[in-house]
Amino acid sequence: MRQQLLSEGASELSYEIREIVKKAEQIRNLGKEIYWENIGDPIQKNHQLPEWIKQIIANLALQNESYSYCPSKGILDTRKFLAEQTNQLKGVQITPDDICFFNGLGDAIAKVYQYITLTSRVIGPSPAYSTHSSAEAAHAGHEPLTYKLDPNNKWYPDLEDLYNKVKYNPNVVGILIINPDNPTGMVYPYETLKRIVEIAKEFKLFLICDEIYINITYNGVRAYSLAEVIDDVPGISMKGISKELPWPGARCGWMEYYNRDKDNDFNRFCQALDNAKMIEVCSTKLPQLAIPKILGDPRFKIYREETNRNIGKRSKMIADILGTVPELTFNETFGAFYNTIIFREGTLKPEQKLTLKILRSEPWLNNGLIRTFPMIKGLYIIF
Ligand SMILES: Cc1ncc(COP(=O)(O)O)c(C=O)c1O
Repeated sequence: MRQQLLSEGASELSYEIREIVKKAEQIRNLGKEIYWENIGDPIQKNHQLPEWIKQIIANLALQNESYSYCPSKGILDTRKFLAEQTNQLKGVQITPDDICFFNGLGDAIAKVYQYITLTSRVIGPSPAYSTHSSAEAAHAGHEPLTYKLDPNNKWYPDLEDLYNKVKYNPNVVGILIINPDNPTGMVYPYETLKRIVEIAKEFKLFLICDEIYINITYNGVRAYSLAEVIDDVPGISMKGISKELPWPGARCGWMEYYNRDKDNDFNRFCQALDNAKMIEVCSTKLPQLAIPKILGDPRFKIYREETNRNIGKRSKMIADILGTVPELTFNETFGAFYNTIIFREGTLKPEQKLTLKILRSEPWLNNGLIRTFPMIKGLYIIF
C-alpha cells in the first residue's frame, strides 16, 4: 500500500470472550469434542418471552408502516416515552431531543469513543467488558486505561485508584461505569456513584454509564441510574432492550445525553454522535415501535420482577456452592447474570489443569443455565 492502511489502534480491537471460539475451533480440528455455548444471550439460554410480548411484536409486524424508514435519531413518540421514564426518576431532566437510537449498544459503544480526540482517554473498570475497553483502546491507539474493581471488596471500584489515575493523567476526559457490571455482576452502591460524580466534577470530566442491565437486579438490591445521581455533570447513559426484554437480535439501544446545556464541548460531542447516526439514513424501526407498548404495559414490571427473582435464585445457588470453596475469591452477584471468580494466590500450580468436563458434572450446569470458561486466573460464569 502507498501509505500504511491499518490504523495503530486496530490491534487493540479484541473480544477476549469470543476469541475463545477460535481456540475451540482449533481444538475441534484436532478431533476433540467441543460443547458450544453462547455469549450472554438469554434467548439462547432457553429464556422464553411471554406470549403477550410476542403478540405485540407480531401485531406490529402486520402493519405496513412498520416497514418504512424512520428518523435516524429514533421515532419521536418512542423518544418521548423514554424521556418521560427517565424524568420520572426525579433526577436530571431530559427531552426527546436528548435521546438517540443506535443499532444495539454495540454500535453506540463503537461510536462514542470514535469521536473523542485521539489523545483523550476514557478510564473504565477492570476487569473490563471488552466491547468498551477495546473500542476505547482502538480509538487511542494504546492499551485500555482502567481503574480497579476490587475482588476483595465485593468487586466495588477502588475509588482511590480511580482518583489517582484521573488526577495524574490529564488526558482522562471521561469515566466509564457499567452498572450493573459485566463481567462481575456487581451493582455500584449509591455512595460510590456519588463519589465518582464528585471526581468527575472536580476534574471537569464527563461520565458514560452503560445501563443495559439497570433493571436486572435481584435479592434485595436495586441499581441507581446515572440520571438519579449525576447532578449537573455532563454524562451519557446507554440503555437497550437486548437483556431486559430480552431481544438482542433487535439491535436496538439508545443513548441519553444528560446536562448538555452545562458544557458546550460536551454538547458539541453529543451533536456529533447524532450526526454520525444521521448519515446512516434510518434506525431500527420495529423494536422502537414495540418499546412503548411493551415497557409501558403494566405486565412488564411483573414479568421483569419474576425473571429477576429467577436469576437471583441461580445467583444464590452459585453462591451456596462456590462461596464455600476456600481456594476461590468469590463474590455473590446482585445484578446482570455474570460472575467473575478468581483463584486465590498460590492455588494454581503450573502443572494443574482445569477441564470443562469436571465442571459440567455439577447438576446446576447440566440444565444449561451456566457456562464456564477456564481463564488464566479465574472463571467467568454466565447464568
Ligand atoms: C455491558 C454491556 N453493554 C452492551 C452490550 C451489548 O448490547 P447490545 O446487544 O445492545 O449491542 C452487552 C452485551 O453483552 C453488555 O454486557
